[in-house]
Amino acid sequence: MEKLKLVVALVIVGILGLQGISIAKDLSKNQMKKDQSNHNIKKETSMNAPNKFEFQPLPYAYDALEPFIDKLTVEIHYSKHHKAYYDNFINAIKGTEMESMGIKDIFKNVSKYPMAVRNNSGGYFNHTFYWESMKANGGGLPTGKLSETITKTFSSFDEFKKQFSDAGKTRFGSGWAWLCLDDEGSLFICSTPNQDNPLMDIAEKKGIPLLTMDVWEHAYYLKYQNKRPDYVEAFWNLVNWEEVAKRYESALK
Ligand SMILES: [Fe+2]
Repeated sequence: MEKLKLVVALVIVGILGLQGISIAKDLSKNQMKKDQSNHNIKKETSMNAPNKFEFQPLPYAYDALEPFIDKLTVEIHYSKHHKAYYDNFINAIKGTEMESMGIKDIFKNVSKYPMAVRNNSGGYFNHTFYWESMKANGGGLPTGKLSETITKTFSSFDEFKKQFSDAGKTRFGSGWAWLCLDDEGSLFICSTPNQDNPLMDIAEKKGIPLLTMDVWEHAYYLKYQNKRPDYVEAFWNLVNWEEVAKRYESALK
């Protein structure tokens, strides 16, 4: 009788054990699904907050900006140029206090750090900001409050477009054109050399960036060769005004 009880007990323990393994497997599967989902959310969020020192995925396919920016240019620009700035930035901050800082805090003190930090932190951030400033089938006109403020500040949208385009066309050598919000809540247009940006303490005029255009030759040379003005003109077909409006609303807060 005792033996029978022991056998029954062992069978029950065995069944419970198998159920336990099965439950553990299910839990583990669910956890993996959850982790994957969190990872995706993190990836999406990080595109809008490029301060996590990740090399964010391009928000569209390499050929999404055709015919205005060709596939090969986007591919090389993103996977070679942008990636190199990212890698060099990570190397430049390795083992320093900057590893635990936000990128905007690095910019605020960038003059105190080696030139490699200035060039590569800018190259890393500016390009992410540039990719997000564009989209397939972009362009058109801004809407809502941003549209009103642009018209009020620059007298018309065409005048804004002309001033922004000129900032890009006349930037000597390599650099960027920007639309920004200043400390007093006013819009202004500027350009920066190399990989500098208006968040850096060395900027001629500091502000919160809302829109940018890369005017380095690597951004347009394959398709437009030396004709930077043609690339600048084409850029207006790509502007992601919804994203610019979101940045404006957030900068006002
Ligand atoms: Fe670039």
